[in-house]
Amino acid sequence: MANQVILTGVKPSNRPHIGNYFGAMKPMVDLQNDTTTDETNIYVFLADLHALTTVQNGAKLKQFSEDLIIDYLAIGLNPEKVIIFKQSEIPEHTLLNWIFNCITTVPYLSRAHAYKDAVAKSKEANVGLFDYPLLMAADILMYDTDIVPVGQDQKQHVEYARDTAEKFNFIYGETFKLPKPLIVEEIGNLPGNDGRKMSKSYGNHLPLFSTDEEIKKFVMSIKTDSKGIEEPKNPDEDLLFAFHKLLSQDQLPELTKRYQEGSIGYKESKEILIANLIKFIAPLRDKRTLIAADKDKVRQILAAGTTKAREQAQAKMAEVRKKVGLD
Ligand code: ADP
Ligand code: TRP
Repeated sequence: MANQVILTGVKPSNRPHIGNYFGAMKPMVDLQNDTTTDETNIYVFLADLHALTTVQNGAKLKQFSEDLIIDYLAIGLNPEKVIIFKQSEIPEHTLLNWIFNCITTVPYLSRAHAYKDAVAKSKEANVGLFDYPLLMAADILMYDTDIVPVGQDQKQHVEYARDTAEKFNFIYGETFKLPKPLIVEEIGNLPGNDGRKMSKSYGNHLPLFSTDEEIKKFVMSIKTDSKGIEEPKNPDEDLLFAFHKLLSQDQLPELTKRYQEGSIGYKESKEILIANLIKFIAPLRDKRTLIAADKDKVRQILAAGTTKAREQAQAKMAEVRKKVGLD
């Protein structure tokens, strides 16, 4: 990926769970590790303005924002390779958002999934939610982004950014690059302890930085059927096994065999999973504690990232201001 700009935003709207980790956070760190940064600029930012559409408690938003930066550093996001910043620190995003508002029609924006869902559920959508795709378009287009790693649910938003770039370029002349989504490798949806998709909103989740006690409680509450130890079990029909696939990879052939021949019970399977979850989470938790203890360092990382991002945003906006007649 020579000379490419990769950019993604994360919303500080709740504490991450292990579904978020495997589905969205880890793929970003893997991408960073697979990329040579002399040829690539990677931006990862905290979409705190987007979070305002749902989080309307100042203390909470501040806390989520601080926590999420630390979470990402703890799982291996490397500030030497990635420009990390906070959206709200760069007011150019909202200026560009407004300019996009003025070239976009209401019917076009009304077709966005998130807005349509809100209306279908008879929720009173706020203007921020309605305009969400255009703020996101501003985030993306500001940095001449080529590639936007996102989950499937965000694909439409990247299409909005692309359309908006085309529309602006058509009206004002070539200004913005057309970005492409990179849909992170499908791990599918990790289930929660009840078999539905793991989600904050179902309360069936395991927080990423759980204590050993929380891990035990979560695993013990994973639903299983009532098959005895000696009954053969189909790994594809067992909820525990969905977790083993991600967390017990070394033991997978052995576990598959024992499931199929009926030489393992759910109790033992749960004990193995608990041990593996602790092995995976404990080091992340320790690293997080270390990082959280050095708040100054975290602030410095953010400040350095913001300075770099602002440079690009101001240069881009100078060009845009000229085109639209605001210079
Ligand atoms: P939640 O459903 O808990 O509110 P979000 O909608 O905030 O989670 O998810 C943020 C991102 O994390 C999503 O775009 C998706 O890529 C990923 N994600 C969320 N839940 C899961 C899951 N159960 N399995 C895999 N990835 C997930
Ligand atoms: N809407 C994205 C989400 O909920 C977060 C986001 C905001 C984003 N701006 C972005 C993602 C720009 C990629 C690029 O996950």
